[in-house]
Parts: sequence; structure tokens; C-alpha cells
Amino acid sequence: MSFQPKLDARRLSAADIARRKGADPLVCLTAYTAPMAAILDPVCDVLLVGDSLGMVVHGLPNTLGVTLEMMILHGQAVVRGSGHALVVVDMPFGSYEAAPETAFDNAVRILRETGAGAVKLESGPQMAATVAYLTQRGVPVMGHVGLRPQAVLSEGGFKAKGRTQAERERVLAEAEATVEAGAFALVIEGVAEPLAAEITRRVKIPTIGIGASSACDGQVLVTDDMLGLFEWTPKFVRRYADLRSAVIEAATTFAADVRARRFPGEAEIYFPAKAE
Ligand code: KIV
Repeated sequence: MSFQPKLDARRLSAADIARRKGADPLVCLTAYTAPMAAILDPVCDVLLVGDSLGMVVHGLPNTLGVTLEMMILHGQAVVRGSGHALVVVDMPFGSYEAAPETAFDNAVRILRETGAGAVKLESGPQMAATVAYLTQRGVPVMGHVGLRPQAVLSEGGFKAKGRTQAERERVLAEAEATVEAGAFALVIEGVAEPLAAEITRRVKIPTIGIGASSACDGQVLVTDDMLGLFEWTPKFVRRYADLRSAVIEAATTFAADVRARRFPGEAEIYFPAKAE
């Protein structure tokens, strides 16, 4: 089995992405493996090695069990498989909250050991000092506000944000604190269009929405969701393919071939008939 990464002359940098504010919408998808990264790379500006990989790839109930080692391993694979898009690796729960210095050490491990161009972390006023510490020391940071999946325990679930005025002000404050601290781009998750539009209008860096309307400067989706690999997907996700059905169909056909002993010619590949 092999994949053919398409290598562009120059990979997009965090600075290139920052310059796209208000210009061509940013195309961003998650990737966790080298072959998928190679497929998505030519059409994406950003490949996000999201900690969603805990749920999507490893079957965890949420992202809290994801470790730095898991992120580094998948980050390495995605960088190997791509050559054009900026690769951004999520900082997992517990790797950046305790102190800016710890966050810096872990971010440096991610960048150094994977070759990725930036890290992402769930941000807001409480993380502003950390984002500033990282960005002032050469670590490009993508922020993530609104619905923050790593807050699942303290919030009692994955809840859309911005239904009340107090909540809208909280998300706006998260966005502004992240931008002032030096982030180059901002994921906005699970907020209604007026709030996404207001954040996008107010901040000077590109916003990348997920379940946050088309008012953002770009969009990100979990690739496995949009490919239709799961029985259930969040309501805002359009399924651009139905790979679950395709996989079931392929596996069922394979099983039928196996049971019918229908594999003509395979033996000849390994044991070609000797010329007499
Ligand atoms: O982990 C992830 O995949 C993400 C995206 C959903 C934005 O953070």
C-alpha cells in the first residue's frame, strides 16, 4: 500500500493564512493520517490535526483522553503526507493550561517533532497570557472559541454558544483576548450567524467557522463527518459523500468473494509459472 504526496514548491505558513483576512475563503479540513493528508492537501489551505482524532480514530467518548504523544504521532503522519497546506496540530487537554512555560515546552515538542507550522488551543481571557507567551517566542497559535470541546466536563456536554446576551459577550471577549494575545487565526465553533459575523467584523485575523455559519473567513469540518463515515453527524455538517455505505458495500462484496473462493490469478502474482 502506498500514497503519493503532492509536493508544492512552498508550503503555506501561518503568516500566509493571516494575510487571507477578508480575501478568498480559507478551506480547512481535519486530517489524521498520511494517505488522507495526501488526498486533501491540494484542495486545502489548512490541514488540522484536531484532537477530534480521539473520538474519530480512537473511539474515545470525548477529546479529554488525547495525549501529546498521540497528537505528535498523527501530526508526523499528516506532515509526511502533505506539502502544500499549513499543518496545524491541536494542543491536547492538559498540555497547555497549567502555565505558559509548560505550554511553550509542549508546543515546541509538537512543532519540532512533527514539522507542523502552528498549534491550536482552546482560548479566551484565561489563556491570553499563554497565547502571548507562545506567539512572542515564535510559536504560531490558532485560537479556538465558542463551543470548546475540552470544556465538556465543566459545561456538562457539547453546547452551542451565544444564546444569551451574557454568553455572546463572553464569546466576544474570548475572541478579542485571543487576537490581542497574537493568534494568527481563530476557529469559531458552535455559534449563531450574528455572533460569528460580529466577531469576524471586529477581529483583524481570519475566522474559521465550524457550525458557525458562512459569515466567517473560512470553514473547517471534521473530514470523516463530511465524508459520511459515521451513522450520525452533527446537524450543521453537509455529507459530501456516503463512504460508510461504500465501505459496507466493498466489505460485503469482499466477503462474498472470499466465501466463493473467487480470487483467480492471485497465486500467479507471487508464483509466476516457470517458462518450460
Ligand atoms: O479537533 C478538531 O477537529 C477541531 C475542529 C472541530 C475545529 O478542533
